[in-house]
Amino acid sequence: MTALKKGTEIELVVESLSFGGKGLARIDGFVIFIDRTIPGQRVLVRVTRKKASYAEARVVELLQDSPEAIAPRCMHFGTCGGCLWQNLPYHRQLEVKRNLVWECLAHIGGLSNDTVLPTLPSPEIYFYRNKMEYSFGARRWLLPEELELSHLEKPRDFALGLHIRGFYDRVLDIEECHLQSPSSVSILKQVRQFALASELPPYNTHDHTGFWRFLVIRDSKHTGQILVELITAPHRSSSKVVRQLSTLLPAAIPDLSTLVHGISEKKAQIATADTHKVVFGPEYIEEYLGDFRFRISSGAFFQTNSKAARILLDQVTEDCGLTGSEVVWDLYSGTGTMAIGLARAARKVIGFELLQAAVSDSRTNAGLNGVENCEFVLGDLKDLLGNSSLANNYGSPQVVVTDPPRAGMHPSVVNQLLALEPPRIVYVSCNPATLARDLKVLVEKYRLLRVQPVDLFPHTAHIEAVTVLEKR
Ligand SMILES: C[S@@+](CC[C@H](N)C(=O)[O-])C[C@H]1O[C@@H](n2cnc3c(N)ncnc32)[C@H](O)[C@@H]1O
Repeated sequence: MTALKKGTEIELVVESLSFGGKGLARIDGFVIFIDRTIPGQRVLVRVTRKKASYAEARVVELLQDSPEAIAPRCMHFGTCGGCLWQNLPYHRQLEVKRNLVWECLAHIGGLSNDTVLPTLPSPEIYFYRNKMEYSFGARRWLLPEELELSHLEKPRDFALGLHIRGFYDRVLDIEECHLQSPSSVSILKQVRQFALASELPPYNTHDHTGFWRFLVIRDSKHTGQILVELITAPHRSSSKVVRQLSTLLPAAIPDLSTLVHGISEKKAQIATADTHKVVFGPEYIEEYLGDFRFRISSGAFFQTNSKAARILLDQVTEDCGLTGSEVVWDLYSGTGTMAIGLARAARKVIGFELLQAAVSDSRTNAGLNGVENCEFVLGDLKDLLGNSSLANNYGSPQVVVTDPPRAGMHPSVVNQLLALEPPRIVYVSCNPATLARDLKVLVEKYRLLRVQPVDLFPHTAHIEAVTVLEKR
């Protein structure tokens, strides 16, 4: 497709959805990825990038909508980076996600994809998240109708909301959001009003100046507790400002149980603080997965969709096939969700985790649930797993559960797992591409029994998958 080059405008019909969530169209077999489209849409696009084997394009005009399109719920849909598929019926999102998993297994892993089961749905598809990370921005995304105006109602140089897809420095000022809860949006609006009045500037990602950086809200779906972490740059009056906010917020949000002030000097746009101080409250919220109770502190990992995480935990429990006599190793154990959930059915569970705060939470969580047969080991798995005394100290595992971050397992962890040779591995992944890469190595010694996608992230292209591997 040599005639196609950057800037070319062309009319296309979207055929399918690809990994990462972009629509896929073809001209004479040549693939073009188009962001923010769904199958069946006829679109006029402009090519933004041309490579030898594919091109990328963005929509100039939607010429005809897809016959399966539905009305999105949110006023920000189409602009905001939070949701991608509110206009695609949920049953179709589930089919698409199953396809994305099997395409990754086939293309990246070179694996047979007939083991991929239909996606298990999330019990709720709106207001399902227990955690949101909103960003402050010094460059507010202007809406098309604002571009024509000489006088804007809102300042250009302040925003609090979510990023525009593909623009790390542009923030959309959020007025509504269907991902977390109505209280979450009320907090956002209160904090925005306060921050604007404070006259301290938002953080500027270009010159790394400014004060306000992130607003992280954790909202328990079962206990109603809310934790707010406000992350700012250091500033001499920061304590005074945060103290003022701490008197204002609880009056407006009665369920607010904890306020934490985090300070970050990182240049990277990641919502984690270098140091933090509890302004009021216990520094954690509690959440239930089934009848298990978990304490989650401000920096720790916890699955963001509590109700679907219960389904994930049930799936992992079923896939471990425990009889009560097994030693289970839970790699990347976070706050202990899997380990504690499996403990009743196992002889002993050992969790391995990098973050001290998460290990402390998992020990507390084991106590809260009356679990006495779990231990948690702090460290980096690529160093820990190579330690030959590990099996002597904790017992060789009959089942290993592994739930790495999006980057997947470090190659040395994969190799050490192969050397360890547990009879069964249950691999929980939030990224089908790195799952496929790791499985390609593991299948040397393991048979792939099944892959169960579980949807924890409705309206986005993200998918969780539980894979069962049995020693050959
Ligand atoms: C996807 S989370 C899984 C958490 C847990 N299984 C759960 O369901 O709540 C990944 C976890 O791996 C931890 N982690 C990341 N890199 C690690 C490493 N190199 N060694 C050990 N743990 C690591 C993170 O801190 C995080 O808690």
